[in-house]
Amino acid sequence: MEILDRFRLDGKVAIVPGGGGAIGSALAKMLSSAGACVAVVDRSAELVEETVRIICERGANALRVPGDMTAEADAERVIAQTIETFGHVDIIVNAIGGGAGKVLFDAQEYPRKEWDWIYELNVRATLLPTQAAVRAMIARGQGGRVINISSVRGLLGINAGYSAYVAAKGAINSLTRQWATEWAKHGITVNAISPTFVDTPQVAMLLGDPAFKASVVSRIPIGRVGQPEDLFGAVLFFASDASSFVTGQILGIDGGLTATQ
Ligand SMILES: NC(=O)c1ccc[n+]([C@@H]2O[C@H](COP(=O)([O-])OP(=O)(O)OC[C@H]3O[C@@H](n4cnc5c(N)ncnc54)[C@H](OP(=O)(O)O)[C@@H]3O)[C@@H](O)[C@H]2O)c1
Repeated sequence: MEILDRFRLDGKVAIVPGGGGAIGSALAKMLSSAGACVAVVDRSAELVEETVRIICERGANALRVPGDMTAEADAERVIAQTIETFGHVDIIVNAIGGGAGKVLFDAQEYPRKEWDWIYELNVRATLLPTQAAVRAMIARGQGGRVINISSVRGLLGINAGYSAYVAAKGAINSLTRQWATEWAKHGITVNAISPTFVDTPQVAMLLGDPAFKASVVSRIPIGRVGQPEDLFGAVLFFASDASSFVTGQILGIDGGLTATQ
């Protein structure tokens, strides 16, 4: 087999919770261009529609599956609908999360409501669709791929009120290793990418402050923040046969930021 063929996803079915968001939509389109049929999941039917429309306009296969991934019934349903349409599910790329910049509080005062919200958004919305997808992968017996989107904040503290987000992304890193350990016997690999700031609407307000952006960029050796496209290579690697002996890894996509710490 040619080496580049090992990165192709022809015949694979990928589901992307958060596929209507900035990073998820870019990743859904990338997975489709690598050959996968893609089920696009998001809370907003309009955002799902937009991603699916672009994929279908390119002549590829995509499925609209709106749903709230903090609700168990919705998580079950989106996996069931994906299997009904495409026959199986091979890859899940968890792209729901974030919220950090909206709820900044000193650690000793961090309020329960905002803490719970960040956990729902980052941990529960990753947990429920993954459990449903992996049950289907195990039942089929053909293995699979789970890819989580963590953040450098899962690894690094920051003196700026991010307790809940740091804890939630730390939980994603731990679950990545735990799931990798438990599901290897089923041929399912679990890996995560860990980006620094990616230029998306979710962080536009923070990066819109020139002093804040300059201080972020000054700490990144490559000298810029990320773009959604910067995540493509790692996600494709983890999604494809090319990574078949790689599991439980958390790959920094951070322009060298964590190398300096
Ligand atoms: N952007 C960055 O700088 C950056 C850096 C490191 C890591 N990350 C991580 O990358 C991931 C994606 O970030 P992003 O910037 O692409 O965020 P985004 O644009 O907000 O995308 C997330 C999408 O998930 C949807 N969503 C939220 N809760 C949901 C639920 N319960 N069920 C279904 N859909 C739900 C959101 O819809 P609503 O708008 O309705 O909430 C949104 O469309 C997150 O895990 C984030 O922590 C981002």
